[in-house]
Amino acid sequence: MGSPPDTSKTIKMERYNSYVRRINSTKLLNASSKLLFRATLLIALVLILFFTLNYPPLFSDSSHHAPIHRHSFLSTTADFFGGASWEKQVRHSATPRRPNGFSVLVTGAAGFVGSHCSLALKKRGDGVLGLDNFNSYYDPSLKRDRQGLLAKHQIFIVEGDLNDAALLRKIFDVVPFTHVLHLAAQAGVRYAMQNPQSYVRSNIAGFVNLLEVCKSANPQPAIVWASSSSVYGLNRENPFSESHRTDQPASLYAATKKAGEEIAHTYNHIYGLSLTGLRFFTVYGPWGRPDMAYFFFTKDILQGKKIDIYQTQDEKEVARDFTYIDDVVKGCVGALDTAGKSTGSGGKKKGPAPLRVYNLGNTSPVPVGKLVSILEGLLNTKAKKHVIKMPSNGDVPYTHANVTLAHKDFGYKPTTDLSTGLRKFVKWYVSYYGIHSRVKKESEVNSEHPKGSAA
Ligand SMILES: NC(=O)c1ccc[n+]([C@@H]2O[C@H](COP(=O)([O-])OP(=O)(O)OC[C@H]3O[C@@H](n4cnc5c(N)ncnc54)[C@H](O)[C@@H]3O)[C@@H](O)[C@H]2O)c1
Repeated sequence: MGSPPDTSKTIKMERYNSYVRRINSTKLLNASSKLLFRATLLIALVLILFFTLNYPPLFSDSSHHAPIHRHSFLSTTADFFGGASWEKQVRHSATPRRPNGFSVLVTGAAGFVGSHCSLALKKRGDGVLGLDNFNSYYDPSLKRDRQGLLAKHQIFIVEGDLNDAALLRKIFDVVPFTHVLHLAAQAGVRYAMQNPQSYVRSNIAGFVNLLEVCKSANPQPAIVWASSSSVYGLNRENPFSESHRTDQPASLYAATKKAGEEIAHTYNHIYGLSLTGLRFFTVYGPWGRPDMAYFFFTKDILQGKKIDIYQTQDEKEVARDFTYIDDVVKGCVGALDTAGKSTGSGGKKKGPAPLRVYNLGNTSPVPVGKLVSILEGLLNTKAKKHVIKMPSNGDVPYTHANVTLAHKDFGYKPTTDLSTGLRKFVKWYVSYYGIHSRVKKESEVNSEHPKGSAA
């Protein structure tokens, strides 16, 4: 019998080989993890670079309550911003259909005043292109519905922000606008205490951005823009006239509008831009703004909720010069018609250009208590009134417009009194929100308030 084979060597060899295999597989694992890590890092860097270049943050403040929608994808049939079909839509919307018609860029076109003005201009044959960021300061679905209404009249709204210089330049490359009706803004007096930066961004930075693009455009457009009666602030002279002092704003909103008036002066002075500021006085009507008292009073009265009615500190009634939307639209169109040309080109002034400011009010202030009683009659419902002292939130106790200047220069003459205007508003409100109970039938309401009664 031979001696058993010596296996110890083989075992050692196998152990050694398995050790080497383990080392190799660990090395392989390490190498592949490194490779994976590097690839992930590279992909992450590429993605960061891509998003930084394509989606620059418009605003750095995270407290911004109104999300900004990027313009790249348009909500209708357009393709990417700047693409051929987008340009076609922009051009088609902005082309006038009457001899010597205007080509108007309306900013804030999905807003209350902007949507009404866009329709009025389009109806008389002007070309209208809208711009709006559809922010959510109030229910954006109302803005979308206004957009739908405008689309039915061949008005296209570019979805974008005033602060997007590249977008504005592109729009002006495609269309040689004769006019800009600049209505986009952060509106509302009280919201400025919650989100002050939104006022600075839209009403100051956004306005400057727009003026920068207008000043370089060739031809330079004439600009009509919305200031506000709030610039009169703590002014006590009545009725408010354009010559009164406006250096005591009572809210940040008012301060940004006043800043706008000063900025307008500068761009007129340096670049020869024709600029007309319109000081609107509490505009109301169908398709109005849900953040305004007449609107949310209507909602709350119908829902049986309590409404706060402000009194001044000396227990007087708060009153407003409520101005009906159709009167304001006529004022805007009149201001556009008489704007006069900008004189600059290539960013250089060639001569003096018009610089104007006008009140657009109703010349007939109404106490808020009276507004509520008109609504009670129209809604056939008693309001649960809660009379309180006006908090110090930027509101002023009283507004009253003197419109002599606007009447002299473009025949502005408000013709709608509050009862007539509110009846039209309520009619729209109940139909838009599908509310029919309790509200008086249109025929009954009509017989109480004959149409067209003057202010
Ligand atoms: N309605 C009034 O009683 C009243 C009174 C005085 C002044 N104004 C001024 O009139 C103008 C129109 O007011 P309105 O009642 O129609 O308000 P609105 O809020 O209904 O309309 C403004 C529109 O501008 C858009 N917008 C806001 N910031 C923008 C931005 N940075 N870029 C692009 N779009 C932006 C909003 O989405 C909105 O659709 C505003 O300038 C407002 O300050 C209104």
